[in-house]
Amino acid sequence: MNAYQLVKPLLFGLPAETAHDAVHAGMRVAQRTPAARALRDRYVVDDDRLRVDAFGQRFPNPVGVAAGFDKNARVPSLLASLGFGHVEVGGVTAEPQSGNPRPRMFRLREDEAIVNRMGLNNNGADVVGERLAAAAPDAPVPVGVNLAKSEHVSADDAPADYRYTYERVAEGGDFFVVNVSCPNSEGFRELQNRDSMAAILSTLRDAGASPLLVKLSPDLPDPAVEDALDLVTELGLDGVIAANTTTDRPEGLRSHNRAEEGGLSGKPLEPRATGMVRFAAERVDVPVVGVGGVFTAEDAYRKIRAGARVVQLYTGLVYRGPSIARDINEGLLDLLERDGFDSVEDAVGADLD
Ligand code: FNR
Repeated sequence: MNAYQLVKPLLFGLPAETAHDAVHAGMRVAQRTPAARALRDRYVVDDDRLRVDAFGQRFPNPVGVAAGFDKNARVPSLLASLGFGHVEVGGVTAEPQSGNPRPRMFRLREDEAIVNRMGLNNNGADVVGERLAAAAPDAPVPVGVNLAKSEHVSADDAPADYRYTYERVAEGGDFFVVNVSCPNSEGFRELQNRDSMAAILSTLRDAGASPLLVKLSPDLPDPAVEDALDLVTELGLDGVIAANTTTDRPEGLRSHNRAEEGGLSGKPLEPRATGMVRFAAERVDVPVVGVGGVFTAEDAYRKIRAGARVVQLYTGLVYRGPSIARDINEGLLDLLERDGFDSVEDAVGADLD
């Protein structure tokens, strides 16, 4: 029995966001103590075969933390000590936002899933930017920043709003992700239409944002995904992230919390997200980052073989605990060996025609 199996019932006895806040508080304390060193010894898997290069960044392993877990960039270095190969902080907006009223995060325990309608609560670009700039030299892994539109800003004013946020976080970020796919903010996902996306992405490009990636919704119909991917190529973006949470409720969900409004993440999202990775990898030459329902090495490997150079997770961390990155990285090494690949890079896209 590992320590998380003891702690998990206590955490799961609390409302989901309260548990999240408690875990964060613990992480912030641990980050400042010698415990971080002990965690590194326990959880970091240091192996050349896991190393991946993507959009000019060197990732020590392909397993990162998805946006939303460390919205305010408080614990990237502790997450690196848990063995993650990168951390995407945010979503960050220009102004601080309190998000939707609580409760706004729900576990679907029987389904190993979460529904959230946080509504992009965060400390705002000025604060997060300063924190990132101060902490950047500490983080031994790439730190990406998820950029989101402020709630009160119209689609017409969105490019300038994203630009403001980008300029505040530019110094401390290693890559930048345009989030136009959050389902919990009114009108937000409409930014995925071609014209809005083109305006936002080219404004950020002009502002010098690089590497620049875009994160898409799994609810976009295929032709809209194709449009978005064409734009990625036309504007010379550096990568695509597939996918954000879904407002869909796949057949077979058992937990009563499936009725809560918001974006679904975790196990039930895995097939759709992996399908989207494949769809993107077949259409763009830039790296695809795969996210959605990664809990095990097999899940990560499936996304890698479908074309993901890098994977991310959030919900898996909640259900599997702090050993998840180590377990996936160790498992990946076994799977690579089993299938005769020399490295993760070798296996990227192995299932594509
Ligand atoms: C998220 N996610 C998210 N994505 C994003 O682009 N910006 C954000 O601010 C957030 N916030 C957020 C909060 C919460 C509570 C959750 C559960 C998720 C989505 C996340 O990055 C990821 O795309 C999905 O959760 C799918 O991955 P998992 O959770 O199935 O591994």
